[in-house]
Amino acid sequence: MEKKIESLGEKEAELSDEIEQLLTTLPKVKNWNGLELCQYQGFWCGSRYLRGMIKFQRHFEAQHNDIILATFPKCGTTWLKALIFTIANRSKYSLDNSPLLSQCSRELVPSCDQDLFMRDPLPVLEDFPKPRIFATHTLYPSLPKSIKNSNCRIVYICRNPLDQFVSNWKFMLRIRVPNTEPISIDEAFEMACQGKQSFGPIWEHVLGYWKASKEEPHKVLFLKYEDLKENNKFYVKQLADFIGYPFTEDEEKQGKVEEISKFCSFDNMSNLEVNKNGEYFKEIKNDIFFRKGSVGDWKNYLTPSMSEHLEKIIEEKLSGSGLTFKKTLEDP
Ligand code: A3P
Repeated sequence: MEKKIESLGEKEAELSDEIEQLLTTLPKVKNWNGLELCQYQGFWCGSRYLRGMIKFQRHFEAQHNDIILATFPKCGTTWLKALIFTIANRSKYSLDNSPLLSQCSRELVPSCDQDLFMRDPLPVLEDFPKPRIFATHTLYPSLPKSIKNSNCRIVYICRNPLDQFVSNWKFMLRIRVPNTEPISIDEAFEMACQGKQSFGPIWEHVLGYWKASKEEPHKVLFLKYEDLKENNKFYVKQLADFIGYPFTEDEEKQGKVEEISKFCSFDNMSNLEVNKNGEYFKEIKNDIFFRKGSVGDWKNYLTPSMSEHLEKIIEEKLSGSGLTFKKTLEDP
């Protein structure tokens, strides 16, 4: 046993050395918050997260009943974590008793790349409460093989890139390196248009999961923030079916779908004490994950020429894929 631990420790040390060596060779730019962003396997990733991400890629062992929530940052991760957790655990916890009343959804559904494997090189996940629900921002082609090869389900959510941009810019301003100049919207926009943001380019991220969802619809459910906003109850039901926890007729009659939809809504979640004043990440208040929660806020920040420019890029990058986004809820 001791020998095994020793050899795991040695392997771990070797992998850490390998990653440190790799980090010296990767292209780097300054991220919007002043930290370092490096380019790895075709996408941009915070250098401090890359270590966790590579360990996740190498060590994560998916189990057949796992639920993997994959998202592009600022596209509804916190919301979908709450929804999936609540749907999958509804026989264990009534809403009055939900762990979400005292813990942020980000804590209940940890992120593999930014949490689990970043804090601990070999986290013990076998005993994680079932169903195991994990989140990741990793791009589809870079996911651990065991996720692709097992029967676990992947739920993906993305959002129109204009709102995602504003949400990320506002977020980055709040988590910027202390005593550094805040990045202007123009500078951040320029970088976003070049694909330079955490886990960007956004078009590569969405296309990877979009294609996977077309090829394997039973494995990958592709959702959009705007659709969830517009028709939440429909998607709560779809989610429940997809992850293998469908609502019974009785539950539907009793209004369970509506209850869960309301419970996880922006208004309810953002007003919970734990999300207003609690802290999950050290020195980051949970309220950072709840800003406006609307569709079309980009209109308050982007000039017409900025929005047209980004839309044009997105249109070109997604052309031929069949994937489009609603920029406002009035869009057809
Ligand atoms: P805004 O900044 O546009 O308000 P993520 O969770 O991926 O970091 O995304 C954060 C975005 O989702 C923020 O968008 C946040 O306000 C919004 N959000 C958080 N919880 C939500 C909920 N329950 N319903 C709708 N939007 C939510």
